[in-house]
Parts: sequence; C-alpha cells; structure tokens
Amino acid sequence: MSDLSGKVAIVTGSSKGIGAGTALRLAADGARVVVNYVSGQADAEAVVGRIVAAGGEAVAVRADLSRPDEIQPLIDAAVSTYGRLDILVNNAGIYRVDSLEQLTAQSFDDHFALNVRGLLLATQAAARVMTSGAVIVNISSGLAKSPYPMVHVYCATKGAVDTLTRSLGMELGPRGIRVVGIAPGFVATEGNAESAKGMSDYLVGKTPLGRVGQPADIAAAVSYAVSADAAWVTGSTIDVAGGMVF
Ligand SMILES: NC(=O)c1ccc[n+]([C@@H]2O[C@H](COP(=O)([O-])OP(=O)(O)OC[C@H]3O[C@@H](n4cnc5c(N)ncnc54)[C@H](OP(=O)(O)O)[C@@H]3O)[C@@H](O)[C@H]2O)c1
Repeated sequence: MSDLSGKVAIVTGSSKGIGAGTALRLAADGARVVVNYVSGQADAEAVVGRIVAAGGEAVAVRADLSRPDEIQPLIDAAVSTYGRLDILVNNAGIYRVDSLEQLTAQSFDDHFALNVRGLLLATQAAARVMTSGAVIVNISSGLAKSPYPMVHVYCATKGAVDTLTRSLGMELGPRGIRVVGIAPGFVATEGNAESAKGMSDYLVGKTPLGRVGQPADIAAAVSYAVSADAAWVTGSTIDVAGGMVF
C-alpha cells in the first residue's frame, strides 16, 4: 500500500473499468478522490459510495474531457472541494475498431479530442494548481508500441500519449512534478466487453502470466507511480500487461 494520506486525486473516467479500480485503490491508500464521469452518473456515485463505505472521501463530478470548456471546471471542483490537487490520473479514453476502409474523419476527431487533447488540456489545467511532489499519470496502452491493424487511430492516440508523457515529464520535472505512463495489456472492463467477446482464449494465450488483466492490476501500478517509492521515475511509461505483447 502507498501512503497517500492528505493527498487529493482526480481520476478521469472513473465511473467504470480501470478508472473505477484506480479511484478505489487511491482512496484505499488514503487519498481524497474526485470520481469523474460523463454519462454514467449512477456508476460514479456507486464508486463514491464504495469509497465512503470503506471510510474514505470522494465526490463524483461530471465533465466531458473531450470538450475543452469542461476541463477547467473539473480541476476547480477538486480545489474547491478539497483545497488542493496532488494527483491527476488521465484515464478517460475511447477505443473503436475502424479499418482503414471504414475510418471517418469524425472517428479520428473523437479519438484525438479525448485520448490526446483532453489529456493534454487536463494536464495543463492541473499543472497550474499543482506544487512540487504532485504526479500526473497517463494511461496509455500496449497498443502504442505494438499496434494492431483495424485500430489505427486508437493506437496512434496512445503513441501520442507516450510522447506527451516524455515531453511533459521534461517540462514539469524542474517544478518537482512527475509524469508517469502506465501501459495496460488487455484488461477486462465494461468498455471492451463487447469487442473482446469470444477472444478470451486468444488473449490469455498471448499473455505469459496466463490470464487477462483486471482493473485492480492497473490500479496497483498507478498506486506505485504516485507514491514516494517512485520519486525517481518520470517521463517513462511502464508496461503492466502480464508480459503480453499484443
Ligand atoms: N481495457 C483495456 O483492455 C485497456 C487496455 C489498454 C489501455 N486501456 C485504456 O484504459 C483507459 C480506460 O479504459 P477502460 O477499458 O477502463 O474504459 P471503459 O470501461 O470504457 O470506461 C471508460 C470510462 O471513461 C469515461 N469516459 C468516456 N468518455 C469520457 C469523456 N468524454 N469524458 C470523461 N470521461 C469519459 C466513462 O464514463 P461514463 O461511465 O460516464 O461513460 C468511463 O468511466 C482508456 O484510456 C483505455 O484506452 C484500456
């Protein structure tokens, strides 16, 4: 367990999946957590309910990270509710299968508006109120380094995320703010339940540790990334994938 007592965290897209697992873990580590959602209010409130029932503190805040005008209010909500911001986990992301033939400009814009622009503008707004010791975690994907066909745009967004993790780590390092990427392998979540149907044996077969990932596996890596034990880690992206190469 990391000791995050006194810290305040925002986890974008934490009503479900990896984000929900991360919000629960950071709260269990002692952080007060802003649980962000866009449409899943009941899910976000359920995550808050689990945190509070376990003795933690959390609040659900709606903000669509693909809309630049909704990002600053999310950061403001953390500061007005808890007085500070120490941790931003840029987790909200979308994934669509788009072959080259089916790809549309709209799908390209949707992916980049959330997975890249939302992450960068959230980081900009957060960094303005963060002080030395703060940490930003960017959720990437194993698909950034070993891309698949049919998901060109998603893979490209995650490649951009890894590049931003490196450049933001360089820019924010002199202020004592770290930026760490986490690249999950396949993780069973609400978001990919449909696209992964019937692929379980294939995915497990490609994973040396012999199972698919769970949100808690990724949350544990985020917990490390934001902890004092990771004080010398910035600008790099850590694979958390059971050894899987996509
Ligand atoms: N699952 C995997 O195998 C896997 C592997 C590698 C990387 N990743 C990455 O991990 C992250 C989470 O994936 P997941 O599978 O956990 O996703 P998920 O189950 O689909 O959950 C997505 C979360 O993001 C929120 N969200 C969606 N659009 C948003 C927006 N415009 N603004 C704010 N929040 C938004 C959703 O909120 P609502 O409930 O309100 O819709 C939900 O809480 C993504 O960045 C994904 O690319 C996942």
